Amino acid sequence: VLCGFRCMEVQGGGGASLTGVLDDCFCDVESIDVFNNFKIYPRIKKLTERDYFRYYRVNLKRPCPFWPDDGHCSIKDCHVEPCPESKIPVGIKSGNYNKYSQAANTMSDMSECEQAKELGAINSTLSNQSKEAFADWARHDDAQDHFCELDDETSPDAEYVDLLLNPERFTGYKGPSAWRVWNSIYEENCFKPRSVYRPLNPLAPSRGESINSSFSLLTLVSLSPGLCLEKRVFYRLISGLHSSINIHLCAEYLLDEGWSRSVWGPNIQEFRQRFDPAETKGEGTRRLKNLYFLYLIELRALYKVAPYFERAFVNLYTGNTQEDGATKDLLLQIFNEIKAFPMHFDEKSMFAGHKMEAKTLKEEFRLHFKNISRIMDCVGCSKCRLWGKLQTQGLGTALKILFSEKEIKNLPEHSPSKGFQLTRQEIVALMNGFGRLSTSIHQLHNFRLLLKENR
Ligand SMILES: *[C@@H]1O[C@H](CO)[C@@H](O)[C@H](O)[C@H]1NC(C)=O
Ligand SMILES: *[C@@H]1O[C@H](CO)[C@@H](O)[C@H](O)[C@H]1NC(C)=O
Ligand SMILES: *[C@@H]1O[C@H](CO)[C@@H](O)[C@H](O)[C@H]1NC(C)=O
Ligand SMILES: *[C@@H]1O[C@H](CO)[C@@H](O)[C@H](O)[C@H]1NC(C)=O
Repeated sequence: VLCGFRCMEVQGGGGASLTGVLDDCFCDVESIDVFNNFKIYPRIKKLTERDYFRYYRVNLKRPCPFWPDDGHCSIKDCHVEPCPESKIPVGIKSGNYNKYSQAANTMSDMSECEQAKELGAINSTLSNQSKEAFADWARHDDAQDHFCELDDETSPDAEYVDLLLNPERFTGYKGPSAWRVWNSIYEENCFKPRSVYRPLNPLAPSRGESINSSFSLLTLVSLSPGLCLEKRVFYRLISGLHSSINIHLCAEYLLDEGWSRSVWGPNIQEFRQRFDPAETKGEGTRRLKNLYFLYLIELRALYKVAPYFERAFVNLYTGNTQEDGATKDLLLQIFNEIKAFPMHFDEKSMFAGHKMEAKTLKEEFRLHFKNISRIMDCVGCSKCRLWGKLQTQGLGTALKILFSEKEIKNLPEHSPSKGFQLTRQEIVALMNGFGRLSTSIHQLHNFRLLLKENR
């Protein structure tokens, strides 16, 4: 059974609990939850702990190409003063919103600032053994033919980061600097018509006078007659990503800094602020739906790319044959679970245009993702930048797969293909990115239970 795009358009059950049927075919949230929480989540968690997947090569040193003076606003520099008025994007300035944001979110206290700096820092510890292995990995990867190059991957500044040492969680990175990043992603990169209102901080209830809360960006986008399905899809993907990242930050919140160690855990208040329908004027439910939408899209991409990995000569190289074999087994198990899951998203409705149109669209999507990856270079907090880049690349890779159906069908059984290739970095981003979504849905389940208890 394929679930069409229309499925996800229909209003589901209400509440942050988001229960009920999402659509008129079979995409109900409960089935996705059960499938994810029991079949996928435990396996993908194990997979991402393996050496092949735990080390991600990324360049975190690229300067922000869009607003070079942002240092004043980011926690990196720990300025006590709020951003000067002239540096705040017009959208954030409007209404009472600015006052609110300064009062509530700028770091006014040096120790808070230091704390954020510490929480957002990357732990770059790598064992000597790992470092030696990486050189070997590079030799192996170089020997493969690669036809797509990513700036980050080929840059001499790119470094391996151990993802297990740097979990995605609350870092204290918020306020104007963080909004600026999301704002420009939505505002300038979402294929939206010029007339659309700015979303401002898309996760805060609208406060500015210029924003009529019953007129969200999303409703405007989905009402825009000039905007084709694919472009609306793009917006929903970004919104789903945003929701997912925020669920992680709420679920791994810094609850207490004890003498010996910090305590991380779910913060219901934070969660409510972002997703409770009452506190978000209904936006919360939509945000969560976009998360499920994104999950189904990435699930579909994994289904489509399975034949690429099922070929015997494709290995997940770390130099340890036994470990590599086990990692590949685990990956194939995940693919098998996905194949057995009956509810797939029907991407045909999405890319069904004329051939030329599809080609143009593919290129447009690619450029947008490249751009969003560059906007991530403007994120002031290293750890947030790391996870932002990884998840954007994961989604970019998923779309590349969906756009390459024909090439994947024609893969040669025993040799690399010129038509379709995935680099190590793309594979690591794809699986870790999907792992993050799977974790979000799992965490959402915990939040539902907590909300019930607290009622
Ligand atoms: C980085 O991680 C290692 C291994 O867990 C730990 O020993 C070390 O203290 C950490 N460094 C920092 C700065 O947190
Ligand atoms: C790792 O390598 C560095 C430089 O090669 C050396 O100084 C250090 O002692 C090594 N550490 C361990 C734990 O082997
Ligand atoms: C890329 O992002 C920047 C900053 O948000 C924006 O000014 C520019 O128009 C974007 N370019 C494309 C091709 O989307
Ligand atoms: C928002 O706009 C709609 C449609 O223009 C209008 O009916 C509604 O009263 C407005 N709401 C507020 C709070 O201004």
